[in-house]
Amino acid sequence: SNPSLLILAGDGIGPEVMGQVRRIIDWFGDKRDLKIDVSEDLVGGAAYDVHGTPLHDDTMAKAQEVDAVLLGAVGGPKYDVLDFSVKPERGLLRLRKEMDLYANLRPAQCFDALADFSSLKRDVVAGLDIMIVRELTSGIYFGEPRGIITEGNERVGINTQRYTESEIARVARSAFELARRRGNKVCSMEKANVMESGILWREVVQKVHDEEYPDVELSHMYADAGAMQLCRWPKQFDVIVTDNLFGDLLSDAAAMLTGSLGMLPSASLGAPMANGRPKAMYEPVHGSAPDIAGQNKANPIACILSFAMALRYSFDQGAEADRLEAAVAKVLEDGVRTADLLGEEGVEPVTTVGMGDAVLA
Ligand code: NAI
Ligand code: MG
Repeated sequence: SNPSLLILAGDGIGPEVMGQVRRIIDWFGDKRDLKIDVSEDLVGGAAYDVHGTPLHDDTMAKAQEVDAVLLGAVGGPKYDVLDFSVKPERGLLRLRKEMDLYANLRPAQCFDALADFSSLKRDVVAGLDIMIVRELTSGIYFGEPRGIITEGNERVGINTQRYTESEIARVARSAFELARRRGNKVCSMEKANVMESGILWREVVQKVHDEEYPDVELSHMYADAGAMQLCRWPKQFDVIVTDNLFGDLLSDAAAMLTGSLGMLPSASLGAPMANGRPKAMYEPVHGSAPDIAGQNKANPIACILSFAMALRYSFDQGAEADRLEAAVAKVLEDGVRTADLLGEEGVEPVTTVGMGDAVLA
């Protein structure tokens, strides 16, 4: 049967960038005979306007059934006044929580044509293609005990870093599975030199490797040294797997190696489903960009590349994902730029639809 995709375009520029992905999905159906069963629904402010909740129960149920969810963006000034319980972001958080998406994938990919946008030297970043896998549902952001307590005559702020073996093992498996679809190399980062959770992390990742993924090359690095190596020579990495806190920092830093927010895709993966593929939600890193919404100016590439990730990791269509990414690279080489990618003299920006046209061509 055809792979199934639930599209939740959301708010602001979400529907605009998603419109270009719809055209690309149609192209794959017509020209490559790759049929995808697409359904669409509301999320965020758009869902609140209709249902009074940022994610309807029916939408949640659909998300649990499909092979992949592709989300645009949620939020906007109109909704800033809403009660926290119905804020657009809550729709997104509910999806992540109920689908139990514990592995957050943040690629840092640098197209040659955009290497001069990076804060690093051209040869350090040109052609860079790495993937950071961040554990998303446990660790120091969730561990108990936590809180601010009074001890003697002063207050103490407390968070607890806590990882179970199974939490470590499942995110390690996500990383090894990804590596097999990429460069077959995983670097695990922790601080086993000073943290108990780091000692356990290293041991469990090594064990999962030895027992289930001996064909994948595995190395370990202290996360601080990893941060340094990421800036010094990022091309040494393929997949990096790390905990929630270190992953938060390392993935933001890695993203900035590559330039504009309008270029960055992401994915969140959960446990394998009956077909062996993980539960998955794909989304651009950027938000709803109210400052440019409704103006046909937004860069659709982050959303297009998020769909390419869905092709590769949820639909088992690696060659078609390569094709789509190559089209994006070609368009950038040809000098096609949305407004967020301007820099060179004398280049006129294209619209959102214009960028979609160029990728399709
Ligand atoms: P943002 O990512 O929406 O925008 C930051 C800046 O980048 C803006 O100047 C925007 O015009 C630009 N930008 C973002 N995406 C772009 C694209 N595809 N093409 C061209 N330029 C682009 O972040 P901001 O302004 O902090 O938040 C705006 C709204 O989005 C808020 O309501 C926020 O809560 C929400 N948000 C939603 C996210 C999500 O749905 N995952 C993530 C981040 C923010
Ligand atoms: Mg962050």
